[in-house]
Amino acid sequence: MKKKIILGITSSIAAYRACDLVRLFVKDGHSVFPVLTMHAEHLVSPLALETLSGNPVFSDMYTGDRRGMGHIDLKRDASLLLVAPATANIIGKFACGIADDLLSTTYLSVTCPVLIAPAMNPNMYAHPAVRENIARLKSWGVRFIEPEEGEVACGDWGAGKLADNETIYRAAVDVIAR
Ligand SMILES: Cc1cc2nc3c(=O)[nH]c(=O)nc-3n(C[C@H](O)[C@H](O)[C@H](O)COP(=O)(O)O)c2cc1C
Repeated sequence: MKKKIILGITSSIAAYRACDLVRLFVKDGHSVFPVLTMHAEHLVSPLALETLSGNPVFSDMYTGDRRGMGHIDLKRDASLLLVAPATANIIGKFACGIADDLLSTTYLSVTCPVLIAPAMNPNMYAHPAVRENIARLKSWGVRFIEPEEGEVACGDWGAGKLADNETIYRAAVDVIAR
């Protein structure tokens, strides 16, 4: 059955892969509403996401032609908030209840399941701050898709690579099905 998925995209170098992820969901008949952080706009094209999803791309809470309150409107009928890729920054904001942009505000306002696919340098992923933020979010029922181990964009090696799109897609469909 067609479901509404809010896809949060943050400013990891892996953000370009969000375009293919959108295609997987759309191909399966789902409706994807991309929400970019302001920084993510440097790394992936809002126009490409808008074209592939067939929906408006949201980023700034205060501009655009939307009427009303974007963070409240977006959550209506959503079956899943998926954040892929998720930076250390957005994970920290979610864990601390910081709501200073559309994506972090949306996170606080949704009642649907939340699924996060982290992507970052292995040293960042191993940092106690990030580990504690993830543990805290898990204790609240937020689900995570573990990043893969391998060589990351900067050349370092370790756990931190965004999981592959098929894995993210299957995890999302599994959560929705429940
Ligand atoms: C080219 C580039 C790639 C980056 N990749 C990552 C990344 O993979 N993971 C991460 O946590 N931060 C990454 N950063 C740093 C984030 O962009 C930075 O922490 C930013 O403040 C996060 O903002 P956001 O969470 O609102 O998107 C990268 C920065 C640049 C310039």
